[in-house]
Amino acid sequence: MNVLVIGGGGREHALGWKLKQSKQCGKIYFAPGNAGTAAVGENVDLAIEPVTQKVADDIAYFARHHKIGLVVIGPEDPLSGGLADKLRVLDLRVFGPNQAGARLEADKAWAKKLMRSAAVPTAEAQTFTDAQAALRYVREHETPVVVKAAGLAKGKGVVVCDDAEQAERAVQRIMVDREFGEAGDTVIVEERLTGQEVSILALCDGRNIYVLEPSQDHKQVGEGDTGPNTGGMGAYTPTPVLDEKTLVLIEREVLVPTLDALRREGVEYAGVLYAGLMLTPGGPKVLEFNCRFGDPECQPLMVRMKGDLLAAMLACSEPGRYGLGDVDLRWDQRVACCVVKCSGGYPGSYENGKPITGLDSAAQMEDVSVFHAGTKLNGDRVVTTGGRVISVVALGKDLREARDKANAACDLIQFEGGFIRRDIGDRVLT
Ligand code: AMP
Ligand code: GLY
Repeated sequence: MNVLVIGGGGREHALGWKLKQSKQCGKIYFAPGNAGTAAVGENVDLAIEPVTQKVADDIAYFARHHKIGLVVIGPEDPLSGGLADKLRVLDLRVFGPNQAGARLEADKAWAKKLMRSAAVPTAEAQTFTDAQAALRYVREHETPVVVKAAGLAKGKGVVVCDDAEQAERAVQRIMVDREFGEAGDTVIVEERLTGQEVSILALCDGRNIYVLEPSQDHKQVGEGDTGPNTGGMGAYTPTPVLDEKTLVLIEREVLVPTLDALRREGVEYAGVLYAGLMLTPGGPKVLEFNCRFGDPECQPLMVRMKGDLLAAMLACSEPGRYGLGDVDLRWDQRVACCVVKCSGGYPGSYENGKPITGLDSAAQMEDVSVFHAGTKLNGDRVVTTGGRVISVVALGKDLREARDKANAACDLIQFEGGFIRRDIGDRVLT
């Protein structure tokens, strides 16, 4: 069976790499892909957004001519634009939720309401559509808050504030200066929680769920968790921050009730449900939902996954079959750590087009996988074309070994201005 993967980040490279290991998998196409995915399959020039009928028709035409048995949609933008719905109408098999399900990520205010209706534990929050009202609220609020753009902002629309002044500035940037465009028309002001964070991803077939191994992302750009939020600077799995009991509790009190609440709204959710949680002294609380695999969490998860990803995705892509119960995924018992090498300046502005060297030497290291994100081929040279450029995953007997190996591999990969966080996992190592 041939597969089309929509997207071109580290997540899509890792998904394609893992899918390719399935016995059932034929050729993999990526739209648009990157320099790394070109070595797993073939990159194709298909428009994927904004999602229009023409975009869907062109993808369907391509799929028919290339015998595509499954379309895997990686990123949130096409999902929230309704690409899965449109492709399903055109009789394609798709992995990824419909537009109504993707709203869980695309509209944080709606997600908050849904969580409240289902009594899912989450941070207390107020929603604002009026900047003056939001400014008044944060000025008068005594305890620290987090200000979030309600729409999609590439993981950067969240500002964790220490005081009222910072919160006012955040509201100003999001609502008045419109730094994230219409994603900031509505703002959520949330109580600031404390605790370890954990990413829990589950495959869903519309009825059954299969919870993947827990992982921990590192969102802030600077070592020691400092500086602005990014799309994710590194992640590792499994994480010792939660025990089996807490994982079961999260399944029972967060994932299942959320899927039930969606069903009450008429949404049968199939694809990946990602819960970003904080383990607070009062128990786990949801910070956000995503409607897709996390990036970079996906990369170390794929390296540890031993089962057949294609079979699992197919089980989640046939409405009404609910095939996930038959899927058996196993996991490498070692720890996988992913470190992301970024362009100088990220998550602010940065320059593209920097030649990258050392990719082969890094990939030749034992138990190291190199997944491309913001790269493209320029002739036969690989150059940068994004903020997060390369994600390196290393396996080790423990987190320290895996992290040190991933850092060493990142050091072999060089491009002007490139930088990493060397402290991935330190929250549990020190
Ligand atoms: P989100 O995109 O909503 O997950 O937010 C990005 C990051 O901001 C999270 O990974 C947390 O580190 C932080 N964050 C979000 N909400 C809160 C909160 N209520 N309290 C403390 N930190 C938060
Ligand atoms: N790593 C966080 C995200 O994918 O949103």
